[in-house]
Amino acid sequence: MKNRVVSGYRPSGRLHLGHYHGNLKNMVGLQDTHECFFFVADWHALTTDYKDTSMLGAYTTEMVLDWLAAGLDPNRCTIYRQSDIAGIPELTLYFGMIMTLGELERCPTYKEQLRELGARVVNTYGFLGYPVLQAADILIVDAELVPVGEDQLPHLELTREIARDFNNLYGQTFPEPQPILSSAPKIPGTDGRKMSKSYDNAIVLSDGPEVIAGKVRKMITDPARKRRDDKGHPDVCTVFELYKVYFPDILEDVAGDCREALIGCTDCKDRLSERIAEDLAPFRGRREVLSRDPGLAREVLAAGAEKVRPIADDTLAAARKAMRIGTL
Ligand code: TRP
Ligand code: SF4
Repeated sequence: MKNRVVSGYRPSGRLHLGHYHGNLKNMVGLQDTHECFFFVADWHALTTDYKDTSMLGAYTTEMVLDWLAAGLDPNRCTIYRQSDIAGIPELTLYFGMIMTLGELERCPTYKEQLRELGARVVNTYGFLGYPVLQAADILIVDAELVPVGEDQLPHLELTREIARDFNNLYGQTFPEPQPILSSAPKIPGTDGRKMSKSYDNAIVLSDGPEVIAGKVRKMITDPARKRRDDKGHPDVCTVFELYKVYFPDILEDVAGDCREALIGCTDCKDRLSERIAEDLAPFRGRREVLSRDPGLAREVLAAGAEKVRPIADDTLAAARKAMRIGTL
C-alpha cells in the first residue's frame, strides 16, 4: 500500500490554531491514505527546556488528548512517544558520527534560536544536535513523507542529507523523505508574529468563545486606522490574515468594506471570533469528553510503542548490519 508518513510535535502544552492549520489538519487527512506514525517528541523538548522538566508528563498527556480531539484516530494511525523507543538514540548516535558541525551550525533554525533565546540557553551539544535526533525519528520508521510546518524544511533537508551520506558510505539503507506542507495561509499570532506559545500570542484549540473574543479584540489591526471613519488597509492587518483562513469566500467584500470604512474593526473582529469559536466547538466537545478518561493517553501511547518498537528494531538491525557494528 501506502507510503509511510511520520511527524512529531514537541510537548509544550495545548495545541493552537497555528498547529491546526499549519499541519495537524494535514495529519488528520493522511490517516486514510497512508500508514501514519505520529509521536510526542519529548526528547526534543529537552533541547531547550532541560532545566525544568516538571511539566513534561502533563504536556504529553495534553498533546495526545488534543490530537485525539482534533481527529487523529489510534485505529487509523500510530500514536507514540519518542522516549518509549530506545532505538532512536542509537540511530542518533550513528547519524551523529557522519554529520559535520559546520552543517549543524549553518542550520537556519539553530541560528534563529540562538538569536531568539540567547546562547546561554541553547548553546548545548543536545540543541546543536536537534536535527540529528529528528533525522533518527524519521528514518527509524522508514518514512518517506513528513507533514510539517514550513519552518521545518531545513531539518528535512538535513535528514535527506544524512540518509544520502549513510547510503553512500554503507550501502542503500534509508529512503530520502519529502515534506508535505499545508496549503493554508500562515496563521499569525494575536501580536502579528508567528503564533507560538513562547510568544504568548496563541489562540489554543480548547479556548472557549469568550476567551477567543477577548484575544481577537486585543489583536493589532491596521495601525493607521485610528478612528472608525479612517479608511483601512486590510493587507497590513493581522485580523485580515485570519480572514483568509476563515472567510475565503467573502474576502474581497471584507477588504472593500475595510478600505471604504464601511465596517469598524470591532465588528470585523467579532465576526471573526464567532467563526473561530463555531469552528472549534466540536473540538472542545470531544476534548471535554476525552479528558474524563484519565488513563486514555497512557493507553494510547503504550499501544503505539508496541507497534513501533519492532519496526525500530528492524531498522536498527539493518543500520548495524550496513555499518558492520556488533559483528565479528
Ligand atoms: N522539530 C519538530 C517541530 O519543532 C518536531 C519534530 C521532532 C519532528 N522530530 C520530528 C517533526 C520528526 C517531524 C518529524 O515541530
Ligand atoms: Fe483589519 Fe477588519 Fe479593521 Fe480592516 S476592518 S483594519 S480588516 S480589523
